[in-house]
Amino acid sequence: MSFPPRFLDELRDRIGLADLIGQRVKLTRKGREFSGLCPFHNEKTPSFTVNEEKGFYHCFGCGAHGDAIGFTMQIDGLSFPEAVERLADLAGVPVPAASPAERERAKAEATQHQIVEAATRWFEAELHGPAGRGAMAYLRDRGLAENTIRRFRLGFAPDDRAALKRALIGQGIAEPLLVEAGLLIRPDDARPSYDRFRGRVMFPILDGRGRPIAFGGRILGAGEPKYLNSPDTPLFNKGRVLFGLAAARRAATERKRLLVVEGYMDVIALAQAGFGETVAPLGTALTEDQLALGWRLAPDLVLCFDGDGAGRRAALRAIDRALPVLSAEKSVRLVALPQGEDPDSLVRTGGAAAFETVLASAAPVSRAIRDIEAAAGGLEAPEGRARLAERLRGWSRKLADRTLQREF
Ligand code: UTP
Ligand code: MN
Repeated sequence: MSFPPRFLDELRDRIGLADLIGQRVKLTRKGREFSGLCPFHNEKTPSFTVNEEKGFYHCFGCGAHGDAIGFTMQIDGLSFPEAVERLADLAGVPVPAASPAERERAKAEATQHQIVEAATRWFEAELHGPAGRGAMAYLRDRGLAENTIRRFRLGFAPDDRAALKRALIGQGIAEPLLVEAGLLIRPDDARPSYDRFRGRVMFPILDGRGRPIAFGGRILGAGEPKYLNSPDTPLFNKGRVLFGLAAARRAATERKRLLVVEGYMDVIALAQAGFGETVAPLGTALTEDQLALGWRLAPDLVLCFDGDGAGRRAALRAIDRALPVLSAEKSVRLVALPQGEDPDSLVRTGGAAAFETVLASAAPVSRAIRDIEAAAGGLEAPEGRARLAERLRGWSRKLADRTLQREF
């Protein structure tokens, strides 16, 4: 989405920069400028200045610099269009759609957003109502507190072929739109459409702005598939979304790291244990897009994968995709969890301290690759060591950053 320059100028004019920044930083007036403690690095004496007339901020300590849009992007880790939309909301100016086709698409998207939101509310109400007693007991049994359940907007889809369908059609939503949203399945033959999610605990998947766009549904207890996800829809592309991203934003920008785990329950359990800076892919290998999303929040991605063979393979695949884009400001570290544990089980039994201990052993990519490759063994013989060296050279050739390659 591109914005007309005149609209962006108007937006900058309407937003008072000192007001905007003043919501996050304590500013004091100094002549023509304001100054305060820089929110982008740690400091004791103010080197952060805001020039209202010129419309930019500048930090003499860390070099942070930009306008109202840049500030919003930097402080909340938003993309350019996300920041523009946020500021337009704030200023009460409508975001212009560039063409009739774009307007059409924006309208269809807005409708889909409303539908997924309506479904989220309905699933939540089911969980908190009489139908959700078993599901609620299941979640409490897994150690989730009431406010965690509410914060992540968990819900319940009753075991009924058309409960959601009836409820949402009753709210005036047309059936084809529910099919498009991935909530109903329409069989190929003439039989009626039915609810995709039945008898499952529902985990809403939110976009970068915190709006629900899809769901993961977990079966209560044993059964297949354990998790069922929404199909790709106009709003949802599973390789471009990280579960928990919107909730992780604040903690990740503050702590300058983002923990990447494998499952929904891992994200939620870690957040409850105080590690708010946690996200997960949607049951697939981490994609380039997801890595880029993560680095927009924090320079240091810590991959916490299961300690088993599958976890190691997933880690290597992620590393393979990360290497070409690694730099001093975009790093990946790897944590190997104890055999048979995932972050959720670890904090349940050992609390936050157990997870801190594991985090403290996070290895930089170079060491992680070496350890994983060396685990294949055969290093007593010179031939084995030569093979290992050759494989490690192969890995380091994937780095595009020359400085980093030399250090590897
Ligand atoms: P795991 O099988 O590791 O489950 O799947 P988990 O997260 O530990 O789940 P609990 O603790 O048993 O509830 C990790 C992730 O893989 C995806 C989901 O995104 C899940 O969170 N997945 C897993 C699926 O999409 N489908 C499945 O059938 C299983
Ligand atoms: Mn688990």
